[in-house]
Amino acid sequence: MSFLRRVIIGDRPERGLARALRAERPELEVRDLPRDDVGASDLRWAEAYIGFRPPRGIDLRAFPLRWIHSTGAGVDGFLEHGGIPAEAKLTRTEGAFGPRIAEYCVARVLAELQDLARCARAQRAKRWELFTPRELQSCKIGLIGTGRIGSEIARRFRSFGCSLVGVSRSGAATPPFELVMPFSRASTALRGADFVIAALPLTPETRGRIDGPLLRELTGAYFLNVGRGATCDEAALAEVLREGVLRGAALDVFGVEPLPASSPLWELPNVSITPHLSARTADHEIVASFLAALAEMERGARSPLEVDPQRGY
Ligand code: GLV
Repeated sequence: MSFLRRVIIGDRPERGLARALRAERPELEVRDLPRDDVGASDLRWAEAYIGFRPPRGIDLRAFPLRWIHSTGAGVDGFLEHGGIPAEAKLTRTEGAFGPRIAEYCVARVLAELQDLARCARAQRAKRWELFTPRELQSCKIGLIGTGRIGSEIARRFRSFGCSLVGVSRSGAATPPFELVMPFSRASTALRGADFVIAALPLTPETRGRIDGPLLRELTGAYFLNVGRGATCDEAALAEVLREGVLRGAALDVFGVEPLPASSPLWELPNVSITPHLSARTADHEIVASFLAALAEMERGARSPLEVDPQRGY
């Protein structure tokens, strides 16, 4: 008797996740539907659900699912939208998220220091506009979140010669940071940072953690958010950007996605907005993570990809 037979995928069938799963584990019965086409009968039939969020308008707690696998690194899509059945395991996808997000951050930081927007404007106007770009090597970079992704970002900036400080739940020292402080001392740790990068998962503890008072302490810094939008008070962020307290921001994540047209962030000249693209999950990473977790579960072991729903990561 196998551990698991029936799997429903609520994602984008064109990704071919079902085909890849069946190729590796032909005994699985897999239904593969666009997220919003997954209905109650599919969820009653299935033992496991694979997706980034529950199907729209559906509370997964009403179904006898034994396992939910997130196609992303984050599982907040499930915990925020009602939660998961009490007995179900929750796993996440592991992939090259750190390196991808780090590349996004390096690109945004260098674009800001080299003022690529100004260069493009000057070129369009056929203007020979000489200025001195700022150097990354002399910058202080602050990371809010020193987990796997935050540390990976920090390592990349370290190799440019930057100084690195971190803010984390525990405040425990961890390489490559020169200094790590707990949230309660965030403004001390981040004082004087040229760039502050938020790389936090969304949990009850991190929601709104980057609040108005903290943002106001980051005078002159350029802010990046590559974690989750709701970890930051967006209204306060727009305010400090408008007032020039923060030099600017590169934002890849938002409290509501897609970012509504009514958001003031769209129109702020010192804000660069991207549509949650800094760490797209590769299809093979989803399949490999699901199969690895399945193999662990079949052995009766706890998968390292298993998430504690209380902690949220
Ligand atoms: C994307 O943000 C993810 O959680 O993978």
